[in-house]
Amino acid sequence: MSTDLQYYFSKDARVMRENAIRAMSKFALKQGIIAFSGGMPNPETFPITEISQFAQEILRDEGANALQYGLTVGHTKLIEALCPFMERRQVKGVRPENIIITNGSAQGIDLMGRIFLDPGDVVLFELPSYVGAIVSYTNYRANLVGVKHDEGGIVLEDLEEKILQVRQAGQRIKLMYSIPNFQNPSGVTLRWERRPRLLEILQRENILLVEDDPYGEIYFTGVDPASLVPIKSFDTEQNVIYLGTFSKLLAAGLRGAWTIAHPEIIHKMEFAKQVGDICGSSLDQRIIYRCLRDNLIDRHVPVIRSFYESRCQAMLAALEKYFPREVKWNRPHGGLFVLVTFPEGFDTLALLTTAMDEYNVSFVIGQPFFVDGSGTNTMRLAFSKETESNIEEGIRRLGEAIRKHLPAIDPSPQEVIAR
Ligand SMILES: Cc1ncc(COP(=O)(O)O)c(C=O)c1O
Repeated sequence: MSTDLQYYFSKDARVMRENAIRAMSKFALKQGIIAFSGGMPNPETFPITEISQFAQEILRDEGANALQYGLTVGHTKLIEALCPFMERRQVKGVRPENIIITNGSAQGIDLMGRIFLDPGDVVLFELPSYVGAIVSYTNYRANLVGVKHDEGGIVLEDLEEKILQVRQAGQRIKLMYSIPNFQNPSGVTLRWERRPRLLEILQRENILLVEDDPYGEIYFTGVDPASLVPIKSFDTEQNVIYLGTFSKLLAAGLRGAWTIAHPEIIHKMEFAKQVGDICGSSLDQRIIYRCLRDNLIDRHVPVIRSFYESRCQAMLAALEKYFPREVKWNRPHGGLFVLVTFPEGFDTLALLTTAMDEYNVSFVIGQPFFVDGSGTNTMRLAFSKETESNIEEGIRRLGEAIRKHLPAIDPSPQEVIAR
């Protein structure tokens, strides 16, 4: 074997990057740390008793079938149950041939890259966006172009401008990837009025939309669920590829997710998945089916919503109390994240070292979420892992760490407490 392993690696493998956020999420495992880094759902929200009972019943009743390979597209009963499930979310007329079950929506995102992207193809991304999708499409050597985001989500005027610029440069735009509800990392939701307009633009321009919706059900008090209706519900021309997941509704380790798309797209995904993993877990898919059939998700999701809502409120109250007023953040109405923005020129990477080493608190830096290289003055805080009292204590410590890094704009501690 040559000592230089680069000799063996393919061109694709040579440019492959690690997901920086997953790397940083490992900080959450450090002993005694207060972790705002990991974006994982809190395991306390997993309905373990019911899942364990379903697993036992399935193994008793279906035995070997539940432990055998299954169809690549997924367990038939689960696929069929997803049609009425989506109908209740206003996505009407979905048929089994429009659905494939994937190992997490992460696999769905990656399969999109696999079947659609040639090197140099353009994918449009919100600024910021989910780093898993950014890394996946970078690995397919796509050209990622950022579209501005404000408190109402994608700025449609900027989208039109970016499309024009890319076309003028002679490049081909295949996909737009978007997370319309309680986005990771910003917590921002795409305003209802912008949803049909976004689709109109993309349809007119022949760009497929990958609508990734892991957080749409995790909304807080006062939110009208009708305002979170999937863009897919406006899609008369099958322009939208919708990704849903059970990771935040049941348990992330079941790796159960689904994609809804044109049957031809589903077929291509099936072929690509077949060579990758043959099929998803037969047992897990049956468990998820039982959760749907017995309405466990409908009964359980209100518990999850209030679990995260109280943590979100604890974080927003602590930010108000302990962070200097030059620092800004959004107030999410669902999901797991808050994005914090510091004055221009501030680098959250330097802050992270201080926060970790001296204050035993972690977060993730914002820059990897921005495909245009901006966002060095941002950080993502996940309120999912810690208890409310830990959240208060962690934000207090982070406030102190920030003061160390921001002496020029630091209000006195009394001022901070007075606000
Ligand atoms: C926006 C987004 N999409 C996809 C995923 C992956 O989820 P899954 O567990 O379904 O693979 C995550 C996970 O954090 C996410 O935040």
